[in-house]
Amino acid sequence: MSPIETIIVGAGGRGNAYGRFAMEHPQELSVVGVAEPDEVRRNRLVTHHDIAPDMIYDGWESLLDSNEKLAQTIINCTMDRTHYDSTIKMLDLGYDVLLEKPMSPVLHENIKLVQKAEDTGRLLQVCHVLRYTPFWQTLRDVVHSGKLGRIISVTHHENLVYWHMAHSFVRGNWRNEETSGPMLLSKCCHDFDILLWILQTQVVHLNSFGSLTHFKPEYAPEGATMRCTDGCPAAETCKYEATKLYVIDGDGWPANHISYIPTKEARMEALKTGWYGRCVYHCDNDVVDHQTVNMEMDDGTTVTLTMNGQGEEECRTMRWDGTDATLFGKFSSKGNEIRIHHHLTGEIEDIPVIDRDSSGHGGGDFGIMRSFVNAIQGNPDDSITTARESLESHLLAFAAEESRHNKTVINMEEYRQRVEAEARNM
Ligand SMILES: NC(=O)c1ccc[n+]([C@@H]2O[C@H](COP(=O)([O-])OP(=O)(O)OC[C@H]3O[C@@H](n4cnc5c(N)ncnc54)[C@H](O)[C@@H]3O)[C@@H](O)[C@H]2O)c1
Repeated sequence: MSPIETIIVGAGGRGNAYGRFAMEHPQELSVVGVAEPDEVRRNRLVTHHDIAPDMIYDGWESLLDSNEKLAQTIINCTMDRTHYDSTIKMLDLGYDVLLEKPMSPVLHENIKLVQKAEDTGRLLQVCHVLRYTPFWQTLRDVVHSGKLGRIISVTHHENLVYWHMAHSFVRGNWRNEETSGPMLLSKCCHDFDILLWILQTQVVHLNSFGSLTHFKPEYAPEGATMRCTDGCPAAETCKYEATKLYVIDGDGWPANHISYIPTKEARMEALKTGWYGRCVYHCDNDVVDHQTVNMEMDDGTTVTLTMNGQGEEECRTMRWDGTDATLFGKFSSKGNEIRIHHHLTGEIEDIPVIDRDSSGHGGGDFGIMRSFVNAIQGNPDDSITTARESLESHLLAFAAEESRHNKTVINMEEYRQRVEAEARNM
């Protein structure tokens, strides 16, 4: 079978991660076009995939302006606020689309995207990469095997390491609701999705608490300068001091995000002028730095989700309590763990998680690419995230925001009906 042809729209971090799949699996996927305004990023993809000159565009707008379908599929890796307009047009032109999460930071746009995919009959797959990782697939198999008995309670933590919180949600792309969206949507729509995918039940009620507590001017060290590069007196004692994190040689993330030129000089220059050199206590951020969500499922199971931005290690940790056993899990780039404590026998059982490949998100980046390719070839797998299914994880995040702001308990059935009706009237 010949490879599926695709156009990468948005050649930043995610566009490159998915492009790598095509480079390593040329029989499955071929990148035949690129749309990206940044010349350095655009050219990098052109070189990697040997893209023909007439398939190079400076943005999704010019790509779609021709009103022609130039390949079978598009991978849309633009930033959150452009997902809606670009994807609606892609679906109208007949493309099958792999869309980065979140679908949209605007509630009703998510619903309209699902309606458009259903009306046009195109595939709209959302990048819920965790479904494709060996860790989560193993955890799901364990729960579905019945080993834990009936699940009574789940505690799930999304722990951001403190510098990732600062990089993405204080200084960077997802710091402000106006330009990106609520924190819980940006960071935890994956977590909602994975919990629903494993539990196979619906949320009936939820409530949520959280706030932006720490990254505010009143918590700046005494005399802190607006930029770390301005001779800040707190440089040595501040864990967020930018040169420690970014002024390194080489191609690693997050230093490569602030400058692709892999030298200390280029990165120092980027800190002096760009977002990432700003004092974390003096940014234009407004998203929360911690939040909890309590959920009651339709079979009575209770689930709590905690997002916290002061972690010592980037990882997800969890505890699943069933009527027969308790499971403790850790999903981390430093190593995965799944351990079961059997109640009756006291036996402790470690479940191995077999790594599949070295792609990002614990193997999920390549996993989702293969799933997308399979779906286009007519062999959808059972992890595939349809747009309708993805919508639920997004609705939970928006409902949690409503609860957090209004200090109310949300009845999810009423909420779904209300927002679906509102979207139809817009
Ligand atoms: N699935 C995941 O786990 C995961 C992880 C990180 C980010 N994301 C999502 O992926 C998306 C991209 O994130 P990223 O980290 O790659 O960001 P990024 O900033 O590295 O990349 C976005 C790219 O879009 C380009 N762009 C801007 N305007 C454009 C236009 N008009 N047409 C085409 N391209 C345009 C930018 O120049 C940039 O290169 C976001 O929606 C983000 O929320 C998902």
